[in-house]
Amino acid sequence: MKRRDAVARISATARFLPDHVLTNADLEKMVDTSDAWIRERTGIVERRIAPDGMTTTDMGAGAASRALAKAGLEPADVDLLIVTTATPDRWLPSTACEIQARIGASRNCPAFDLHAACTGFLYAVSMAEGYVAAGRGEVVLVVSAEKMSSIIDWQDRATCILFGDGAGAAVVQPSENGEGILSSFHRSDGDMADLLERPAGGASRPLDPESLRNRDHMIRMSGREVFKSAVRSMAGAGTAVLREAGVDSSDVDLMVPHQANMRIIESTARYSGIPMEKVFVNLQRYGNISSATIPVGLDEAAEEGLIEPGSLILMAAFGAGLTWGAMAMRW
Ligand code: ACO
Repeated sequence: MKRRDAVARISATARFLPDHVLTNADLEKMVDTSDAWIRERTGIVERRIAPDGMTTTDMGAGAASRALAKAGLEPADVDLLIVTTATPDRWLPSTACEIQARIGASRNCPAFDLHAACTGFLYAVSMAEGYVAAGRGEVVLVVSAEKMSSIIDWQDRATCILFGDGAGAAVVQPSENGEGILSSFHRSDGDMADLLERPAGGASRPLDPESLRNRDHMIRMSGREVFKSAVRSMAGAGTAVLREAGVDSSDVDLMVPHQANMRIIESTARYSGIPMEKVFVNLQRYGNISSATIPVGLDEAAEEGLIEPGSLILMAAFGAGLTWGAMAMRW
Protein backbone atom coordinates (compact mmCIF):
# COMPACT_ATOMS: atom_id res chain seq x y z
CA MET A 1 0.00 0.00 0.00
CA LYS A 2 1.16 3.55 -0.76
CA ARG A 3 2.57 5.59 2.10
CA ARG A 4 0.34 8.45 3.23
CA ASP A 5 -0.09 10.93 6.08
CA ALA A 6 -1.86 9.85 9.25
CA VAL A 7 -5.57 10.69 9.28
CA ALA A 8 -6.47 9.36 12.73
CA ARG A 9 -4.77 9.24 16.12
CA ILE A 10 -5.40 7.84 19.56
CA SER A 11 -6.20 10.89 21.69
CA ALA A 12 -6.65 9.08 25.03
CA THR A 13 -6.41 5.64 26.60
CA ALA A 14 -7.61 4.13 29.87
CA ARG A 15 -7.75 0.79 31.64
CA PHE A 16 -9.81 -1.08 34.18
CA LEU A 17 -8.34 -4.06 36.03
CA PRO A 18 -10.24 -5.96 38.70
CA ASP A 19 -8.60 -5.82 42.15
CA HIS A 20 -8.45 -9.54 42.84
CA VAL A 21 -4.99 -11.04 42.19
CA LEU A 22 -4.59 -14.75 41.40
CA THR A 23 -0.95 -15.74 41.87
CA ASN A 24 0.97 -18.72 40.53
CA ALA A 25 1.05 -19.99 44.13
CA ASP A 26 -2.78 -19.91 44.13
CA LEU A 27 -2.79 -21.94 40.90
CA GLU A 28 -0.46 -24.52 42.46
CA LYS A 29 -3.35 -25.37 44.77
CA MET A 30 -5.80 -25.73 41.89
CA VAL A 31 -3.92 -27.78 39.25
CA ASP A 32 -0.72 -29.81 38.95
CA THR A 33 1.65 -26.93 38.17
CA SER A 34 4.36 -24.85 39.83
CA ASP A 35 5.30 -21.21 40.09
CA ALA A 36 8.70 -22.08 38.59
CA TRP A 37 7.16 -23.79 35.52
CA ILE A 38 4.75 -20.93 34.86
CA ARG A 39 7.44 -18.24 35.22
CA GLU A 40 9.95 -20.08 33.09
CA ARG A 41 7.58 -21.15 30.28
CA THR A 42 5.40 -18.02 30.17
CA GLY A 43 6.82 -15.15 32.28
CA ILE A 44 3.49 -14.76 34.10
CA VAL A 45 3.58 -14.25 37.89
CA GLU A 46 0.00 -13.20 38.62
CA ARG A 47 -3.20 -12.18 36.87
CA ARG A 48 -6.38 -10.26 37.78
CA ILE A 49 -9.65 -12.13 38.07
CA ALA A 50 -13.04 -10.43 38.06
CA PRO A 51 -15.28 -11.41 40.97
CA ASP A 52 -18.63 -13.11 40.39
CA GLY A 53 -21.05 -10.43 39.35
CA MET A 54 -18.44 -8.24 37.62
CA THR A 55 -19.17 -8.51 33.92
CA THR A 56 -17.35 -7.73 30.69
CA THR A 57 -19.69 -4.72 30.39
CA ASP A 58 -18.71 -3.49 33.87
CA MET A 59 -15.00 -3.60 33.06
CA GLY A 60 -15.42 -2.19 29.54
CA ALA A 61 -17.65 0.66 30.71
CA GLY A 62 -15.14 1.49 33.45
CA ALA A 63 -12.31 1.82 30.92
CA ALA A 64 -14.54 3.63 28.39
CA SER A 65 -15.70 6.33 30.83
CA ARG A 66 -12.15 6.96 32.00
CA ALA A 67 -10.86 7.26 28.40
CA LEU A 68 -13.57 9.77 27.44
CA ALA A 69 -12.85 11.85 30.55
CA LYS A 70 -9.13 11.86 29.72
CA ALA A 71 -9.92 13.03 26.17
CA GLY A 72 -12.11 15.81 27.59
CA LEU A 73 -15.19 14.35 25.89
CA GLU A 74 -18.74 13.51 26.95
CA PRO A 75 -20.44 10.18 26.18
CA ALA A 76 -22.77 12.12 23.85
CA ASP A 77 -19.74 13.04 21.71
CA VAL A 78 -19.09 9.42 20.66
CA ASP A 79 -19.92 8.85 16.96
CA LEU A 80 -19.12 5.12 16.87
CA LEU A 81 -18.53 2.52 19.58
CA ILE A 82 -16.63 -0.68 18.80
CA VAL A 83 -16.16 -3.33 21.47
CA THR A 84 -13.69 -6.14 21.00
CA THR A 85 -14.27 -9.20 23.14
CA ALA A 86 -14.10 -12.98 23.08
CA THR A 87 -16.25 -13.04 26.20
CA PRO A 88 -19.46 -11.11 25.51
CA ASP A 89 -21.86 -10.95 28.44
CA ARG A 90 -24.60 -12.46 26.27
CA TRP A 91 -24.66 -13.87 22.73
CA LEU A 92 -27.46 -11.39 22.04
CA PRO A 93 -27.34 -8.40 22.19
CA SER A 94 -23.79 -7.20 21.63
CA THR A 95 -21.71 -6.09 24.61
CA ALA A 96 -21.19 -2.83 22.68
CA CYS A 97 -24.89 -2.00 23.03
CA GLU A 98 -24.72 -2.79 26.74
CA ILE A 99 -21.70 -0.51 27.17
CA GLN A 100 -23.38 2.20 25.07
CA ALA A 101 -26.32 2.26 27.49
CA ARG A 102 -24.11 2.01 30.58
CA ILE A 103 -21.88 4.98 29.72
CA GLY A 104 -24.79 7.04 28.40
CA ALA A 105 -23.68 7.32 24.77
CA SER A 106 -26.22 8.68 22.33
CA ARG A 107 -28.75 6.51 20.47
CA ASN A 108 -27.34 8.09 17.30
CA CYS A 109 -24.08 6.25 17.96
CA PRO A 110 -23.82 2.87 16.18
CA ALA A 111 -22.38 0.22 18.51
CA PHE A 112 -21.20 -3.27 17.61
CA ASP A 113 -18.90 -6.06 18.76
CA LEU A 114 -15.87 -7.03 16.70
CA HIS A 115 -14.50 -10.51 17.35
CA ALA A 116 -10.91 -11.08 16.26
CA ALA A 117 -9.77 -12.65 19.55
CA CYS A 118 -6.50 -11.17 20.84
CA THR A 119 -5.97 -9.17 17.63
CA GLY A 120 -9.31 -7.39 18.15
CA PHE A 121 -7.94 -4.07 19.37
CA LEU A 122 -5.72 -3.53 16.32
CA TYR A 123 -8.53 -4.56 13.95
CA ALA A 124 -10.89 -2.13 15.72
CA VAL A 125 -8.50 0.82 15.67
CA SER A 126 -8.12 0.27 11.92
CA MET A 127 -11.92 0.23 11.50
CA ALA A 128 -12.05 3.44 13.55
CA GLU A 129 -9.38 5.01 11.34
CA GLY A 130 -11.45 4.13 8.25
CA TYR A 131 -14.57 5.70 9.78
CA VAL A 132 -12.69 8.90 10.57
CA ALA A 133 -11.01 8.95 7.14
CA ALA A 134 -14.37 8.60 5.42
CA GLY A 135 -15.64 11.57 7.39
CA ARG A 136 -18.40 9.52 9.03
CA GLY A 137 -17.53 10.70 12.53
CA GLU A 138 -14.86 12.40 14.59
CA VAL A 139 -14.92 10.38 17.82
CA VAL A 140 -14.66 6.61 17.75
CA LEU A 141 -14.48 4.80 21.08
CA VAL A 142 -12.72 1.43 20.97
CA VAL A 143 -13.23 -0.72 24.05
CA SER A 144 -11.46 -4.05 24.54
CA ALA A 145 -12.95 -5.94 27.47
CA GLU A 146 -12.40 -9.55 28.45
CA LYS A 147 -13.60 -11.80 31.23
CA MET A 148 -11.35 -14.69 30.23
CA SER A 149 -11.93 -16.36 33.59
CA SER A 150 -15.49 -17.13 32.43
CA ILE A 151 -14.30 -19.36 29.57
CA ILE A 152 -11.24 -20.94 31.19
CA ASP A 153 -11.26 -24.61 32.07
CA TRP A 154 -9.85 -24.36 35.59
CA GLN A 155 -8.96 -28.08 35.42
CA ASP A 156 -6.73 -27.67 32.34
CA ARG A 157 -3.26 -26.66 33.49
CA ALA A 158 -2.11 -25.97 29.94
CA THR A 159 -4.52 -23.03 29.56
CA CYS A 160 -5.78 -21.87 32.97
CA ILE A 161 -2.39 -20.43 33.92
CA LEU A 162 -2.28 -18.12 30.92
CA PHE A 163 -5.24 -15.77 31.06
CA GLY A 164 -6.59 -12.88 33.12
CA ASP A 165 -9.46 -10.37 33.12
CA GLY A 166 -9.54 -6.65 32.41
CA ALA A 167 -10.33 -3.92 29.92
CA GLY A 168 -8.65 -1.14 28.00
CA ALA A 169 -10.14 1.67 25.91
CA ALA A 170 -8.90 4.14 23.33
CA VAL A 171 -10.46 7.24 21.78
CA VAL A 172 -9.73 7.60 18.07
CA GLN A 173 -10.01 11.12 16.61
CA PRO A 174 -8.78 12.93 13.48
CA SER A 175 -5.05 13.53 13.35
CA GLU A 176 -4.05 17.15 14.06
CA ASN A 177 -0.35 17.53 13.29
CA GLY A 178 0.52 14.39 11.37
CA GLU A 179 0.51 12.23 14.48
CA GLY A 180 -1.48 8.98 14.50
CA ILE A 181 -1.68 5.75 12.55
CA LEU A 182 1.09 5.55 9.94
CA SER A 183 0.45 2.03 8.72
CA SER A 184 -1.35 -1.15 9.63
CA PHE A 185 -1.39 -4.77 8.54
CA HIS A 186 -4.08 -7.36 9.28
CA ARG A 187 -4.37 -11.00 8.31
CA SER A 188 -6.34 -14.11 9.22
CA ASP A 189 -6.14 -17.82 8.45
CA GLY A 190 -9.24 -19.87 9.15
CA ASP A 191 -7.40 -23.06 8.14
CA MET A 192 -5.89 -22.87 11.62
CA ALA A 193 -9.21 -22.29 13.39
CA ASP A 194 -8.97 -25.52 15.39
CA LEU A 195 -5.70 -24.55 17.09
CA LEU A 196 -7.49 -22.29 19.58
CA GLU A 197 -11.20 -22.68 20.09
CA ARG A 198 -14.23 -23.20 22.28
CA PRO A 199 -15.57 -26.33 20.59
CA ALA A 200 -19.12 -26.27 21.98
CA GLY A 201 -21.70 -23.65 22.88
CA GLY A 202 -22.09 -22.09 19.43
CA ALA A 203 -24.54 -22.87 16.64
CA SER A 204 -22.58 -25.88 15.32
CA ARG A 205 -22.50 -27.64 18.68
CA PRO A 206 -25.12 -26.18 21.02
CA LEU A 207 -24.58 -26.96 24.67
CA ASP A 208 -25.85 -30.34 25.80
CA PRO A 209 -25.21 -32.43 28.91
CA GLU A 210 -22.30 -34.25 27.24
CA SER A 211 -20.45 -31.11 26.13
CA LEU A 212 -20.97 -29.59 29.56
CA ARG A 213 -19.62 -32.75 31.21
CA ASN A 214 -16.56 -32.73 28.89
CA ARG A 215 -16.12 -28.98 29.45
CA ASP A 216 -16.11 -28.51 25.67
CA HIS A 217 -17.53 -24.99 26.04
CA MET A 218 -14.20 -23.87 27.52
CA ILE A 219 -10.96 -22.84 25.77
CA ARG A 220 -8.96 -25.58 24.06
CA MET A 221 -5.56 -24.83 22.62
CA SER A 222 -2.70 -26.51 20.80
CA GLY A 223 -0.16 -24.38 22.65
CA ARG A 224 2.99 -25.33 20.77
CA GLU A 225 1.47 -24.76 17.30
CA VAL A 226 -0.03 -21.44 18.38
CA PHE A 227 3.35 -20.44 19.79
CA LYS A 228 5.21 -21.11 16.53
CA SER A 229 2.62 -19.36 14.43
CA ALA A 230 2.51 -16.36 16.78
CA VAL A 231 6.21 -15.60 16.52
CA ARG A 232 6.22 -15.92 12.73
CA SER A 233 3.11 -13.87 12.17
CA MET A 234 3.78 -11.04 14.65
CA ALA A 235 7.33 -10.52 13.45
CA GLY A 236 6.21 -10.54 9.79
CA ALA A 237 3.41 -8.06 10.51
CA GLY A 238 5.72 -5.77 12.47
CA THR A 239 8.29 -5.70 9.70
CA ALA A 240 5.56 -4.99 7.13
CA VAL A 241 4.13 -1.96 8.95
CA LEU A 242 7.56 -0.44 9.55
CA ARG A 243 8.38 -0.81 5.87
CA GLU A 244 5.05 0.71 4.83
CA ALA A 245 5.52 3.61 7.24
CA GLY A 246 8.96 4.24 5.74
CA VAL A 247 10.76 3.82 9.05
CA ASP A 248 13.37 1.46 10.39
CA SER A 249 13.26 -0.76 13.49
CA SER A 250 15.88 1.55 15.04
CA ASP A 251 13.37 4.44 14.79
CA VAL A 252 10.89 2.64 17.07
CA ASP A 253 10.69 4.26 20.52
CA LEU A 254 8.49 1.58 22.07
CA MET A 255 7.00 -1.72 20.99
CA VAL A 256 3.75 -2.63 22.74
CA PRO A 257 3.10 -6.24 21.75
CA HIS A 258 0.20 -8.50 22.66
CA GLN A 259 1.09 -10.05 26.01
CA ALA A 260 0.67 -13.82 25.74
CA ASN A 261 4.00 -15.36 26.61
CA MET A 262 7.38 -13.80 27.44
CA ARG A 263 9.17 -16.17 25.05
CA ILE A 264 6.83 -15.10 22.21
CA ILE A 265 7.47 -11.42 23.01
CA GLU A 266 11.27 -11.93 23.12
CA SER A 267 11.37 -13.90 19.86
CA THR A 268 9.12 -11.40 18.09
CA ALA A 269 11.27 -8.48 19.28
CA ARG A 270 14.43 -10.27 18.15
CA TYR A 271 13.04 -11.06 14.67
CA SER A 272 11.76 -7.48 14.37
CA GLY A 273 15.13 -6.00 15.35
CA ILE A 274 13.80 -4.24 18.48
CA PRO A 275 15.93 -4.49 21.65
CA MET A 276 14.06 -5.66 24.76
CA GLU A 277 14.68 -2.28 26.52
CA LYS A 278 12.25 -0.84 23.98
CA VAL A 279 9.56 -3.47 24.51
CA PHE A 280 6.75 -2.84 26.98
CA VAL A 281 5.93 -5.87 29.13
CA ASN A 282 3.26 -6.14 31.83
CA LEU A 283 2.50 -9.80 31.23
CA GLN A 284 4.00 -10.75 34.62
CA ARG A 285 1.20 -8.84 36.38
CA TYR A 286 -1.83 -9.51 34.20
CA GLY A 287 -1.26 -12.61 32.07
CA ASN A 288 -3.02 -12.67 28.72
CA ILE A 289 -6.12 -10.42 28.75
CA SER A 290 -6.77 -11.22 25.08
CA SER A 291 -7.72 -8.10 23.08
CA ALA A 292 -7.29 -5.81 26.12
CA THR A 293 -3.52 -6.33 26.41
CA ILE A 294 -2.46 -3.61 23.95
CA PRO A 295 -4.74 -0.76 25.15
CA VAL A 296 -3.88 -1.59 28.77
CA GLY A 297 -0.19 -1.60 27.79
CA LEU A 298 -0.45 1.72 25.92
CA ASP A 299 -2.18 3.29 28.89
CA GLU A 300 0.40 2.09 31.40
CA ALA A 301 3.31 3.01 29.12
CA ALA A 302 1.96 6.54 28.63
CA GLU A 303 1.42 6.91 32.37
CA GLU A 304 4.99 5.76 33.05
CA GLY A 305 6.33 8.36 30.61
CA LEU A 306 7.58 5.73 28.15
CA ILE A 307 5.44 7.24 25.40
CA GLU A 308 5.52 10.95 24.66
CA PRO A 309 4.12 13.12 21.90
CA GLY A 310 6.07 12.24 18.77
CA SER A 311 7.09 8.75 19.95
CA LEU A 312 7.02 6.03 17.30
CA ILE A 313 5.03 3.07 18.62
CA LEU A 314 4.94 -0.40 17.11
CA MET A 315 2.08 -2.71 18.14
CA ALA A 316 1.68 -6.35 17.12
CA ALA A 317 -0.82 -9.03 18.06
CA PHE A 318 -2.06 -12.52 17.21
CA GLY A 319 -4.94 -14.62 18.39
CA ALA A 320 -7.56 -17.25 17.72
CA GLY A 321 -8.84 -17.49 14.17
CA LEU A 322 -5.98 -17.41 13.61
CA THR A 323 -5.80 -13.63 13.30
CA TRP A 324 -2.77 -11.36 13.46
CA GLY A 325 -1.66 -7.86 12.71
CA ALA A 326 0.48 -4.86 13.53
CA MET A 327 0.29 -1.08 13.53
CA ALA A 328 2.85 1.72 13.50
CA MET A 329 1.75 4.95 15.16
CA ARG A 330 3.22 8.38 15.82
CA TRP A 331 1.93 9.30 19.31
N1 ACO B 1 2.47 -26.76 34.62
C1 ACO B 1 3.36 -27.76 34.53
N2 ACO B 1 3.52 -28.48 33.41
C2 ACO B 1 2.74 -28.14 32.33
C3 ACO B 1 1.82 -27.10 32.38
C4 ACO B 1 1.68 -26.40 33.58
N3 ACO B 1 0.83 -25.37 33.71
N4 ACO B 1 1.21 -27.01 31.17
C5 ACO B 1 1.74 -27.96 30.39
N5 ACO B 1 2.67 -28.67 31.10
C6 ACO B 1 3.49 -29.78 30.65
C7 ACO B 1 2.89 -30.53 29.49
O1 ACO B 1 1.93 -31.47 29.94
C8 ACO B 1 4.11 -31.15 28.88
O2 ACO B 1 4.44 -32.29 29.62
P1 ACO B 1 4.99 -33.63 28.89
O3 ACO B 1 6.27 -33.19 28.25
O4 ACO B 1 5.15 -34.59 30.01
O5 ACO B 1 3.93 -33.99 27.90
C9 ACO B 1 5.21 -30.13 29.11
O6 ACO B 1 4.72 -29.27 30.16
C10 ACO B 1 5.49 -29.28 27.91
O7 ACO B 1 4.25 -28.85 27.34
P2 ACO B 1 4.19 -27.90 26.10
O8 ACO B 1 2.77 -27.59 25.78
O9 ACO B 1 5.02 -28.44 25.01
O10 ACO B 1 4.91 -26.62 26.72
P3 ACO B 1 5.34 -25.31 26.01
O11 ACO B 1 6.75 -25.03 26.31
O12 ACO B 1 4.89 -25.23 24.59
O13 ACO B 1 4.53 -24.19 26.82
C11 ACO B 1 2.55 -22.87 26.58
C12 ACO B 1 3.12 -24.25 26.84
C13 ACO B 1 2.99 -21.94 27.70
C14 ACO B 1 1.02 -22.94 26.53
C15 ACO B 1 3.12 -22.35 25.24
O14 ACO B 1 2.97 -23.31 24.24
C16 ACO B 1 2.44 -21.09 24.77
O15 ACO B 1 2.53 -20.05 25.39
N6 ACO B 1 1.75 -21.14 23.59
C17 ACO B 1 1.06 -20.00 23.08
C18 ACO B 1 -0.24 -19.92 23.76
C19 ACO B 1 -0.90 -18.61 23.57
O16 ACO B 1 -0.28 -17.58 23.52
N7 ACO B 1 -2.22 -18.64 23.51
C20 ACO B 1 -3.01 -17.48 23.51
C21 ACO B 1 -3.35 -17.07 22.13
S1 ACO B 1 -4.19 -15.58 22.16
C22 ACO B 1 -5.86 -15.80 22.03
O17 ACO B 1 -6.45 -15.59 21.00
C23 ACO B 1 -6.66 -16.20 23.21
